[in-house]
Amino acid sequence: MEFVTYEQEGFVGIVTINRPKALNALNSKVLEEIDEVFSNVNLEETRALILTGAGEKSFVAGADIGEMSTLTKEQGEAFGKKGNDVFRKIETFPIPVIAAVNGFALGGGCEISMSCDIRICSENAVFGQPEVGLGITPGFGGTQRLARIVGVGKAKEMIYAATNIKADEAYRIGLVNAVYPQTELMEMAKKLANKISKNAPIAVRACKKAINEGLDVDMDKAIVIEEKAFGSCFESEDQREGMNAFLEKRKVEGFKNR
Ligand code: CAA
Repeated sequence: MEFVTYEQEGFVGIVTINRPKALNALNSKVLEEIDEVFSNVNLEETRALILTGAGEKSFVAGADIGEMSTLTKEQGEAFGKKGNDVFRKIETFPIPVIAAVNGFALGGGCEISMSCDIRICSENAVFGQPEVGLGITPGFGGTQRLARIVGVGKAKEMIYAATNIKADEAYRIGLVNAVYPQTELMEMAKKLANKISKNAPIAVRACKKAINEGLDVDMDKAIVIEEKAFGSCFESEDQREGMNAFLEKRKVEGFKNR
């Protein structure tokens, strides 16, 4: 891999977009490598992922403007689909993905963070969808996910006016869950990922699926999705261990993902 690295630390996998000369901008090769890295995650031994960018300045500064500059209408649509397919894979990935946003998260950078389950960021992070200033729309999900996360009015303001926001504002509007000094960001991301990993993996996965799928349907259908998820847990060894541990007043002896 030229632009993406993967490290395994216990149950946690760390995916790093590593193209610092271009502030980790997403060209076709980077998108293909992200796709490949996610395809290769061992879901038996991994319970949460962290996605971050290399360096201390930028998470991802967007889709690659050089590559996009000469695209035709058809090629533009295909490039949008390429990014959208990868980001949808992240969004629907069976285990939680935490974006550790360590600097600029502009355009495709803001968009890839929004395809993750949870965003935390460093104090120097900057979020925004500057596309209309380049003569294009957000193309990797920004028009859809930003409104769902921060609300329609704020999303429209940010997108129409190409307004970038700093970490404190991103926290205030709920785009990120927490802001940390740069030096503490990865440690806090790992702490959260490890906390998730200690819980019953089958239940955590079922929660992710139920939350995601439930948001796309009406409440009558959504609660049925939850009922199915809830019921499915009762076929797991981890449910029996979790409840027996409580009843026997002891600690869980480590969930087995079974
Ligand atoms: N694409 C390609 N290259 C990029 C890039 C991008 N999105 N962002 C930064 N780079 C490159 C720069 O061209 C520069 O390369 P050279 O050294 O070879 O000139 C290098 O990264 C460093 O960037 P700067 O010198 O510009 O660094 P800076 O500190 O002065 O500014 C910045 C940082 C404000 C992030 C600025 O680089 C910037 O505005 N980048 C573009 C941000 C942007 O518009 N992103 C949205 C792209 S469109 C999109 O993403 C569409 C979509 O939804 C799919």
